[in-house]
Amino acid sequence: MIRSVITGTGSALPAKCVTNAELAERVDTSDDWIVERTGIRQRYIADETEFTSTLATKAARAALEAAGIDASEIGLIVLATATPDHTFPATATQVQAALGCGGGVAFDVQAVCSGFLYALATADSMLRTGMAQKALVIGAETFSRILDWEDRTTCVLFGDGAGAVVLEAQDVAEDGPGILASRLHAEGAHKDMLYVDGGPSTTGTVGHLRMKGREVFRHAVVNLADVLTEVLADTDLGAEDIDWVVPHQANARILDATARKLDLPTEKVVVTVDRHANTSAASVPLALDTAVRDGRIKAGDLVMFEAMGGGFTWGASLARM
Ligand code: UT7
Repeated sequence: MIRSVITGTGSALPAKCVTNAELAERVDTSDDWIVERTGIRQRYIADETEFTSTLATKAARAALEAAGIDASEIGLIVLATATPDHTFPATATQVQAALGCGGGVAFDVQAVCSGFLYALATADSMLRTGMAQKALVIGAETFSRILDWEDRTTCVLFGDGAGAVVLEAQDVAEDGPGILASRLHAEGAHKDMLYVDGGPSTTGTVGHLRMKGREVFRHAVVNLADVLTEVLADTDLGAEDIDWVVPHQANARILDATARKLDLPTEKVVVTVDRHANTSAASVPLALDTAVRDGRIKAGDLVMFEAMGGGFTWGASLARM
């Protein structure tokens, strides 16, 4: 059967790391509060020479190298971001130009923190229907550019970065590698709980992120547990078969609560929120690349990806590496 197989991963972070203590010099917060409520200890912040496209290109190059393929073989780039370089063209096309692999398909997907799950499921569908053979799926963000640095309830939570995977259509055996199942959801009625108060069609400004954190937290735990259960039900696998969960890195407490709800041991959950903070669409592929490169995630492992974000949007995918 034809499946989309992850054959390489890569990631990129801005050069500048900002600790909680450094943030506490600018806003009324403390390392203790941030660590206790979120698990975040530091985040990376892009400087004026680093953009969503440059971070995405760096991550894509690393993923291509890991997959052992040349950029010219890529026929599809799906890039998830809520912080594109420009309103248009799509940042994916900028990455395509930087990689020198023009002529194929390249577009952005906007589902905020769930963006990578939306991009992965979209690319998977397109590969399985033969629209391309090899794809780059990228999550890349510069959320630091849409934060209100006076608002301590949000500015301490986010960071910048990018992650990428090479996805290849391969004819594999039933128990072989590839994406086994994906589920996506959206519920637009919850827009006011997490949104940006600007945009080209409304204010004409870029705007700032606004979030009712406690409400988002409550929905996240319920929605994530539900969608993980749905994806498992699409396969003949159970929670006990999962080797690793690579979740969206919003808050260590959400990761713990979701794992508890599904009876998953916390040792199976890849956590990078302490180092990267919440990098929105970049967080899942950044965490995946971290765990692949440090040797935790290996060929044959069953890995669950999941995320929830603004919209609300949420989703999960189960893949054998
Ligand atoms: O990626 C998209 C999805 N996003 C998420 O999943 C985020 C989900 N939500 C969360 O992670 C948590 O709700 C937060 C980390 C955002 C907040 O944690 P919380 O335990 O829900 O705190 P809270 O918002 O209820 O605030 C508790 C207190 C408040 O003070 P009072 O009203 O109790 O006096 C806040 O003003 O903490 C205060 N506070 C802070 N204090 C120090 C809020 N932010 C800060 C801060 N430093 N940075």
